[in-house]
Amino acid sequence: MTSESQKKQRNFFRRKRIRATDFEFDQSQSIKDDIARKYNFEGDLLDIFVNNTGMLVYKWHHYIPIYDRYFSKYRGTEVRFLEIGVSKGGSLRMWRKYLGKDAIIYGIDIDPDCARYNGIHGEVRIGSQTDPDFLASVIKEMGGVDVVLDDGSHKMEHIRTTLEKVLPKVTDEGIYMIEDLHTSYWPNYGGGHASKKNFFNLVRLLIDDIHHWYHNKGIRLPKVSSHCRSVHIYDSIVVFEKGEMIRPTNSQII
Ligand SMILES: C[S@@+](CC[C@H](N)C(=O)[O-])C[C@H]1O[C@@H](n2cnc3c(N)ncnc32)[C@H](O)[C@@H]1O
Repeated sequence: MTSESQKKQRNFFRRKRIRATDFEFDQSQSIKDDIARKYNFEGDLLDIFVNNTGMLVYKWHHYIPIYDRYFSKYRGTEVRFLEIGVSKGGSLRMWRKYLGKDAIIYGIDIDPDCARYNGIHGEVRIGSQTDPDFLASVIKEMGGVDVVLDDGSHKMEHIRTTLEKVLPKVTDEGIYMIEDLHTSYWPNYGGGHASKKNFFNLVRLLIDDIHHWYHNKGIRLPKVSSHCRSVHIYDSIVVFEKGEMIRPTNSQII
């Protein structure tokens, strides 16, 4: 290929808007085999996901082992689990099957049509993830919250507002997970590779805050970092582990 045609091809891909549908799996293949082979993962959540019927659930394949890594400890417990984004109700069904009958599962969605899923596999409340009073009332009704999964609007401003309002309310050692963060690179979600609003800039500030003991720039994201002990980054998923920052100490032992 000549350098001129290489340049043309590069420009074509630069102009092309990347979408989730560009990554659609060829469903003539086995979803289960794909996840098992690529991520070396087997388990109930995989079976629940691939055997889903009736209510659509829409998840990226690599999320399944990540969910299991963080949520398996809550199975069979009275975990208070809040999913932002109900859509067609399939994910609430998946969480009920996975977490068990005792889990207190709530979903919130801005779309009033999602009220039809209320009371089937969990409680559904209608409102916006950007409304702090609504969020507080749902969490109060739940009696607190141990796990949050943000699969809502995926817009930069919304993700940040919800994180700042809800993370302080998560119980210690609880989990706050945000998915579909590839939108951080997409302008139609308020993101962009070089955009200041790209969510991973916030994550970078948080990383600096977690290490504030070792530099003199201070804490720049107190609404998040004062409630976060660690942050785990995956392709399109960030997991915040709830807890206060603990001043580190060290020992020399001979
Ligand atoms: C990706 S879908 C959720 C998919 C579902 N969790 C699943 O796994 O099948 C995103 C949902 O977020 C909802 N949503 C969009 N903006 C919202 C907002 N500001 N507050 C709450 N929900 C919102 C949409 O109505 C949509 O149903």
